[in-house]
Amino acid sequence: MNDRTSAPPPALAVRDVTVRFAGLTALDTVSFTVAPGSVHALIGPNGAGKSTCFNVLSGLCRPAAGRVLLGDTELTGRPPHRIAALGVARTFQNIVTTAGTVADNLMLGRHALSRAGFTASALGLPRARREQREHLARAREIAELVGLGAHFDAPVALLSYGDRKRVELARALCLEPRVLLLDEPVAGMNGAERARTAEVVGTVREQLGLSVVLVEHDMGLVMRLADEVTVLDFGRPIAHGTPDEVRRHPEVLRAYLGTGADEEDAA
Ligand SMILES: Nc1ncnc2c1ncn2[C@@H]1O[C@H](COP(=O)(O)OP(=O)(O)O)[C@@H](O)[C@H]1O
Ligand SMILES: [Mg+2]
Repeated sequence: MNDRTSAPPPALAVRDVTVRFAGLTALDTVSFTVAPGSVHALIGPNGAGKSTCFNVLSGLCRPAAGRVLLGDTELTGRPPHRIAALGVARTFQNIVTTAGTVADNLMLGRHALSRAGFTASALGLPRARREQREHLARAREIAELVGLGAHFDAPVALLSYGDRKRVELARALCLEPRVLLLDEPVAGMNGAERARTAEVVGTVREQLGLSVVLVEHDMGLVMRLADEVTVLDFGRPIAHGTPDEVRRHPEVLRAYLGTGADEEDAA
């Protein structure tokens, strides 16, 4: 039931995307490509357009111009649930789950995939029961992959903040995405929790072979995890390159120094 992740993910291409909000251009002809299986970071000062870009990628915001493509598949203008079904899953910066057990939360992600659906499960049909067992087994594997195996049946409310953020990550993984969009996955975490999550993101990318798009203020994390970085400033891409290249880029230094952001700019 996991055949989709065995092939390399298609490239995710953002082409000349423009988003306007009443007189303000939040994204101005932004283009970048997330290479198959890479970690691509999207960074920039507050208000640069990072969240808006994520909203376009996940279908919450329709661009005024430009396109988003996953391989040959047009994502532009599709509703969020269709984009998720096509293999692009996201986490939200500010949503931390508090209800149910870890298993319950991961099964919510699995239900979006279930072919038998809720009606058949409610009727207790044998195929639905078998699918339910398979989904539970896969959810447990994913929990183990992100280091939540020991907490699988624990109420989420009893977990540490870092673990709860990783429940959110695991729930997105339960959709078997080919591209995972992570919106500030370590925001609000302490140093140890950050290191743990960084390790998990690396493991997930390696083991599941998916692409990751990372919006993150923690420059240490970006430098450690990203293969490529796109820097936005006032809605415009001002630099692309490896972490080392963008770190030394004069435009990037100017943009960051101008806002007072520094290397440890936390959430
Ligand atoms: N729904 C909206 N309506 C109006 N302006 C918005 C909306 N969302 C974002 N903006 C504006 O667009 C710009 C980019 O915002 P955002 O994408 O949230 O930046 P970032 O995530 O990089 O901090 C900001 O000036 C912000 O105020
Ligand atoms: Mg933002």
